[in-house]
Amino acid sequence: MLAPMVGLTHYAVRRGVQGFLPEGARVLWPTEMLNSRRIPSQHESETPEINFKDHEWGLCPQLLANDETFIRLSVKRLESWGASAIDINMGCPVEKALRHNYGVALMGDPKYAQEVVAHTVESATVPVSVKLRAGLESKDFDYLHGFVAGLIDAGASWVTIHPRTAEQKRKGVADWNLIRRLKARFREEGRPVEIIGNGDVQCFDDIEAMFQESDCDRVMVGRAMMAKPWLIRNEPEPDAETQGAWYGEFLLRVLSEMREHYSWDAGRRRMLFLIVWGKPWIEFGEYLQGRIQAARDYAEMEAAILKFFSQPQRILKRSSLRG
Ligand SMILES: Cc1cc2nc3c(=O)[nH]c(=O)nc-3n(C[C@H](O)[C@H](O)[C@H](O)COP(=O)(O)O)c2cc1C
Repeated sequence: MLAPMVGLTHYAVRRGVQGFLPEGARVLWPTEMLNSRRIPSQHESETPEINFKDHEWGLCPQLLANDETFIRLSVKRLESWGASAIDINMGCPVEKALRHNYGVALMGDPKYAQEVVAHTVESATVPVSVKLRAGLESKDFDYLHGFVAGLIDAGASWVTIHPRTAEQKRKGVADWNLIRRLKARFREEGRPVEIIGNGDVQCFDDIEAMFQESDCDRVMVGRAMMAKPWLIRNEPEPDAETQGAWYGEFLLRVLSEMREHYSWDAGRRRMLFLIVWGKPWIEFGEYLQGRIQAARDYAEMEAAILKFFSQPQRILKRSSLRG
């Protein structure tokens, strides 16, 4: 699965990744995190974040939410735009989320987090899930287990775990074993819980390793999917140069959707952001970024991409992933 990422998992990028999904395969697609205080007054496709034109692919929009009224209004609106499921963000560690008591802040208040899930489930006709972290500051296994149990009791259909603490942000290493322990504990209790594992997967071997080590039900990939959207296929990758050519095709597909649906300003910023997050795996990615940055309109951007990929390019198996 593709992970929800602000500035990245908007419509045009989703379309780009969807192009690599084998025919007939079905997964849920994330949006970026969407603010439940804003959604009720917005119209579909008003901005790239809420462009739902690919809703027939199975969209699972992600909500930043903590208030019953805004949850109810947002859920109704997201469903009318075609949501197939709704995910609640309990993992975002940025200062603003903490100040407004949503995102990972909810992990500090299990009862309140349960209420947020219960309100969402009551308002929704589609399944509700939660994406969360290992904890706030420390990894307290019993606390995490109790927290997840509470979410499931409140009606969550599954959870996605990015096993780092809020304090770690994206530093350190994602603790896949924590997911294994959680799966085992729930199984022992006779109530298996569906867990999607997330964190640090960079290539097909890592997908296999995460399934093995964490015992998770699905693997969700964020950053690496921006350079290797074909990871959505869950198949061994071809050689580095074939991947380079595929990456070029991906960028052109994203560009063509942007051209059709986004203003130049909105598309330009998002294409640059996509390259910035993908470049750790792209040989000469810095150069590509410079060429994209210099483009003054969509035609120049397309020309820059075509020129870069007129030479064979290589995609690296792993990068240092520190950021
Ligand atoms: C630029 C960026 C934006 C992100 N935005 C979100 C978000 O909106 N919602 C969310 O749940 N996680 C967000 N994340 C976290 C990712 O979904 C994921 O949990 C994290 O990057 C670890 O997975 P990875 O190692 O596969 O990238 C974001 C990550 C990045 C790099």
